[in-house]
This record gives sequence, structure tokens and C-alpha cells, in this order.
Amino acid sequence: MTDRLRAMALLGVAAVIMTGCSTADPSVSSTASSTPTYSPPGMSSPASASTEPEPEPELDHSSPASLHVLVNKQHPLDPADYAPEDLSVPDVPSSRTSLELRAEAAGAAEELFAAAAADGVELTLLSAYRSYAYQQGTYGGWVQKYGQAEADRISARPGFSEHQTGLAMDVGAASGACALEQCFGDTGEGAWVAEHAAGHGWIVRYPEGAEQTTGYSPEPWHLRYVGTQAAADVVASGGVLETAWGFEAAPDYAS
Ligand code: DAL
Ligand code: ZN
Repeated sequence: MTDRLRAMALLGVAAVIMTGCSTADPSVSSTASSTPTYSPPGMSSPASASTEPEPEPELDHSSPASLHVLVNKQHPLDPADYAPEDLSVPDVPSSRTSLELRAEAAGAAEELFAAAAADGVELTLLSAYRSYAYQQGTYGGWVQKYGQAEADRISARPGFSEHQTGLAMDVGAASGACALEQCFGDTGEGAWVAEHAAGHGWIVRYPEGAEQTTGYSPEPWHLRYVGTQAAADVVASGGVLETAWGFEAAPDYAS
């Protein structure tokens, strides 16, 4: 190793020590970091000496109760029959009674619907939390109607649906126009959602042109709650969750 390379390596080690790690985000697991750290013998890390900006906390993409859990055809929920513990009914117009979301997502849904209404856009909630058992019925129904290959493009198998996290919802126009249809994206309501969802912590999870990455045909109505910071980061990265969070494309199931 040349002197210059050795000096750069030492600088890199020093940077790791000085920046440390933050656990400010309660959803961050203290064991989540996969970045190896190295402390040379005789050196301790000064906890408060750094004037560097805090690094962004790592997001927990694997715990089912994390707001940032990644769920797709390659990443099922674990356990498969996971059920959230803090479900509540958001106070929003709804096509069915008692649709539930996790508490933080429910509050964010209320904010999104209120912001839409303030802009003269009337939304309705079409679907929200779905249990493993409920998704069995939903997916099974699509398989019966279209066959498995087509069903897999539009509906998740039980244990693989974001709806089971309590962090996903399907929204529609209060008029009922284009409910759960591709043309929702062309309605005023769909356009409003596409433009404003991220500002309230939601992303359009299955965007156009990303089927080979997300595994699903476009769903302009399916929103996933990740929080405002993560949503802004996803949008800035191009709008596809797998890509933004550094995961492989998930066009199909492992088996
Ligand atoms: N329609 C989405 C992919 C689901 O079933 O979760
Ligand atoms: Zn959905």
C-alpha cells in the first residue's frame, strides 16, 4: 500500500469513528446496522466531539412492525400471519365500515383526505388492513377469476401483501369513478393523489413502468405509508420503493 493510500484508509476509519451512529428513530433496530466498524487498539470513540452532521438513521426493512418494512414477492411478512397491534379506524369517508390502519398511518390518512378535501378533491377509502385470512379470500378470488399468472400481477398471496402490515390503503374518487381501475390515475382525484401523497407520508407503491421491479401492474390507488422523510427520499430516488431502498427487483415469487 502506498503512503497516500494508507493515509486515505486511515481517514476513512477516522470518519467512521467520528460520525458514530444514531438511534433517534424508534423503529431502528440497534442490531440493524450491517456496516462493520473498526476501532484501532488504544483508540476510543469520542461521543460528543464530532461537528459532522448526523448521518441519516438506517431504516429497519425487515421487522413486520417497522414503518419501513419492505414487503414484496421476495420479502414475505415474517411471521406470515403477522397482525399489527395498534390498528385503528381512520376518520375518513369510506366505502366500507371499520376499515383499519396502524395508528400513525390512520392519522396520516386523515391528513391526506383533509388536504384533498381542502383542495376540492373528495376521496374515499376502499381498502386498508387485510389479515392473512382475508387476503387468502381476496387472492383466491382473483385466481378463480383470471388464473394464477394474471392474479399474481394484481394481487399478493397471503403473507406477501402490504395490506397485512396495516400501512397500505386503496383510495378512490368519492364519485366511484374508476375505482381500483387503471383509469383512476387519469382522474382528478388520481392526479391529486400522485402529486400530494408523499407530502403526507404516502407513496404510490406500484407506479407505471415498474412491474418488473415491484412485481405488480400499476395501481395508482394503492398507497403505502412510510412517513414524510422516507416518502420524500423515495420520490427523489425515482418513486420505486425497491430501488430507493436498495433492494433487488422482485418480479416473481421464489417458488
Ligand atoms: N394489490 C396488492 C398488490 C395486494 O394485493 O397487496
Ligand atoms: Zn392495495
